[in-house]
Parts: sequence; structure tokens; C-alpha cells
Amino acid sequence: MTVHFIGAGPGAPDLLTLRGRDIIAACPVCLYAGSLVPEAILQHCPDGAEVVNTAAMSLDDIIEAMRAAHADGKDVARLHSGDLSVWSAMGEQMRRLRDAGIPVSVTPGVPSFAAAAAALGSELTLPGLAQSVVLTRTPGRASSMPAGETLTNFAATGATLAIHLSAQNLSQVIADLSPAYGPECPVAVVYRASWPDEQIIRGTLSDIVDKMDDGISRTALILVGPALRGEGFDESCLYAADYDRRYRPQSAQSPWASWSHGDD
Ligand SMILES: C[S@@+](CC[C@H](N)C(=O)[O-])C[C@H]1O[C@@H](n2cnc3c(N)ncnc32)[C@H](O)[C@@H]1O
Repeated sequence: MTVHFIGAGPGAPDLLTLRGRDIIAACPVCLYAGSLVPEAILQHCPDGAEVVNTAAMSLDDIIEAMRAAHADGKDVARLHSGDLSVWSAMGEQMRRLRDAGIPVSVTPGVPSFAAAAAALGSELTLPGLAQSVVLTRTPGRASSMPAGETLTNFAATGATLAIHLSAQNLSQVIADLSPAYGPECPVAVVYRASWPDEQIIRGTLSDIVDKMDDGISRTALILVGPALRGEGFDESCLYAADYDRRYRPQSAQSPWASWSHGDD
């Protein structure tokens, strides 16, 4: 018996991975984080599955439900939104399961920052503008931030910032970032990326607060950085005609070779 942690993706049910879908379909127990995992994904559970929304449960109760399934020899699909590598609470569940000798597996999901970038039609790492993406958040009721992980510090890098769990702190975010990025730096707030009620608000550090809809205080990502301008960047060397590709030395290339190898 195994507890299978599965990243359920950012919202759209068809952004679940095929592997995630197949594991859900094979598990007689499904525990899902109900606040962000779409109900439509639960349709993949087999008939008669025990399906539990854990949104109101404590960690103790969640682990107890997993132990009970383990005692009955039942596999568990454990669904969290987006990907599991960021803000999923997988770590604390896994630690207890390991202590209890219960096997686990992890299946990645599409993270919300990727869904938000897709909604914007943006590459977040444009040559000459930004080559790093910082996934971060601001402190909240349940979580403080380690001392060095301040927005001011991240802003000093000039990277693209994907700020989670912070739409309610937008004014403070702007105040912290403006000295380094300047008032004209582009910002986008993407609310419920990939959901039917997705909203995109674009602006700059100086005007984004005025453009915001009052209703947007959660399930939104704040993306900040010069790459969001989408112009004024260099072309990468990757597709340059004179670039000597590692696996396709220019000397050996026919004019047609690049047509069959689009990616790299
Ligand atoms: C508890 S974290 C979960 C992050 C998730 N594990 C991931 O991979 O994106 C919740 C935060 O992620 C962001 N988020 C999650 N889903 C989102 C979506 N569909 N659109 C925009 N932001 C989203 C919001 O900042 C939200 O406050």
C-alpha cells in the first residue's frame, strides 16, 4: 500500500498529467485539498472510492486517514494543487508517513506560476532582461519568512519574481519592489490561472494597485520584472544561424536538418 502524492495542476482539469490521472483511477481512497483542487479531477476516481476533502482537517486527522487506509491495504491518491515542490504541505505529511513506515510516491503537476505565464503568453527568462525566476511569497498568518528571504533582497537581483500567496499584500509588495525595479517596471496579477473565471491585470509598479479588482485577494499570482515587458530583449544563440550546436555541428548540418529538430 502506498500514499501517492499527486500535483493536480493549477485548476483546469485537463492540466492534470496522464500519470496523475492513472494513479487516481487506481486508488480506492482519494484525499484532496479541496480549496484549490477542482472537483472535475475527482471524476477519475474509481466507482465506490472513498473521496475526502481535507480542507477542514488537521494534519493529525489526515495522517490518521492515511494510516487507516494502510491498515486496510488500500492505496491513497493525495491531491494538492499545482506542483508538490512548492507550498503543498507535502513535506510534513511525508515525514510522518516515513516515521510510520508507510511508502510514498510523488507525481509532479503543472505549477501555478507556469499556468500564469501561459495565460500571459510570456517567457519569464528573456535573454538580456532576466535569466532567473524567483518563486516566493510574503509572510502570512500561518508562515513567517526566513530572515534573508525578503522581497527587497530578491529585487536586488533583477530577476523575474513570481510572488505567491500575496495578493492581499499587494501595496506592501509594490513598496518593497519599487526602489530596485523602478515605477515603470511591468507587473501582472493573474487570478485563478486556467480556471473559467481567470482574470489578468497588467500594469506597472506605479499603477497596478489602482487597476486591481477589490475581489482579488487570494488564488492570484503577482509576476514582476522587466521580462514581462516582452520586448527589448536579445535573441538567444540557440537558433542563431552561426551557432555551433553541440549535437549538430554546423559543419555537418544540411540546410534541412533544423526542420526536424525544433527544440534544441
Ligand atoms: C498554497 S499555494 C499552492 C501553490 C501550488 N503548489 C503551485 O504549484 O502553484 C497557493 C497559492 O498559489 C497560487 N496559485 C495557485 N493556483 C493558482 C492559480 N490557478 N492561479 C493563480 N495563482 C494560483 C496563489 O498565489 C495561491 O495563493
